[in-house]
Amino acid sequence: MTYQNITTEQNDSVCTITVNRPDKLNALNKNTIYEIGEAVKNAANDDSVRVIILTGAGTKAFVAGADISEFNSFSESEGAALAQHGHDVFGSIENCSKPVIAAINGFALGGGCELAMACHLRVASSNAKFGQPEVKLGLIPGYGGTQRLPMLIGRTKALELLMTADMIGAEEALSLGLVNYVTSPEELMAKCKEMAAKIVQQAPMAISGIIRCVNEFYDKGNRNFQTEINEFGKCFVTEDFTEGTTAFLEKRKANFKGK
Ligand code: COA
Repeated sequence: MTYQNITTEQNDSVCTITVNRPDKLNALNKNTIYEIGEAVKNAANDDSVRVIILTGAGTKAFVAGADISEFNSFSESEGAALAQHGHDVFGSIENCSKPVIAAINGFALGGGCELAMACHLRVASSNAKFGQPEVKLGLIPGYGGTQRLPMLIGRTKALELLMTADMIGAEEALSLGLVNYVTSPEELMAKCKEMAAKIVQQAPMAISGIIRCVNEFYDKGNRNFQTEINEFGKCFVTEDFTEGTTAFLEKRKANFKGK
């Protein structure tokens, strides 16, 4: 599939999706959000892909937010429809059966911070800047920021960032638990690929089960051991479970097939 605002590339089992509007700091217009959704769906349905990396083109920004020029004269219903579309796509990332790693290579503001938060794992380069500056525009976050930010960093700091519009750097994001790692800009993709390579070695259906169980906890705002019990049981009828346990007992490396 050809895209206007993103590029995709596959190496081994890792699909890299790059938001490609560097002259607009990769701001998310409607079509870009649509294309990200399509690329994630295609990667999720492609058996040769096991991990997705999401990043931004250029050296300055991951994504500097929703495209402000596109919505400044929207009506209430148009605004709500824009948020709904963003939620549909960002939800499809969070619920993707394959891990999505955000490689945050600069500004991750507004919708950019929200896009990163919808991913399962986040690695930031040392020049990354995070924030939810919507209040400066007379807005609130519309792509999940009011929910995912407190979920990831706690209510106290989330409310501060949401209400002050302050930006934080990569090291503070790390100390708050917003990102998994901070690297130099040059090492960012290598670190993401290193994490992807570790995940690629594991049983794909077990990885999907973990995503479903962890999402269930956050979706319901409650512990749900039943989902874990069901997902645990489902592992036992997979070929990968037989392979993984047999490989362990035979003292060899498992060769998982995703079945
Ligand atoms: N929507 C639309 N265009 C955006 C954008 C956004 N969210 N963020 C940046 N751009 C565009 C700028 O308008 C500019 O375009 P131009 O060259 O055609 O004028 C280009 O990207 C470069 O941005 P610029 O502001 O010149 O870069 P900077 O280094 O001076 O500042 C930021 C960088 C990120 C601090 C600044 O661009 C910014 O504050 N962006 C908006 C962030 C925001 O509020 N996001 C939430 C939106 S809901």
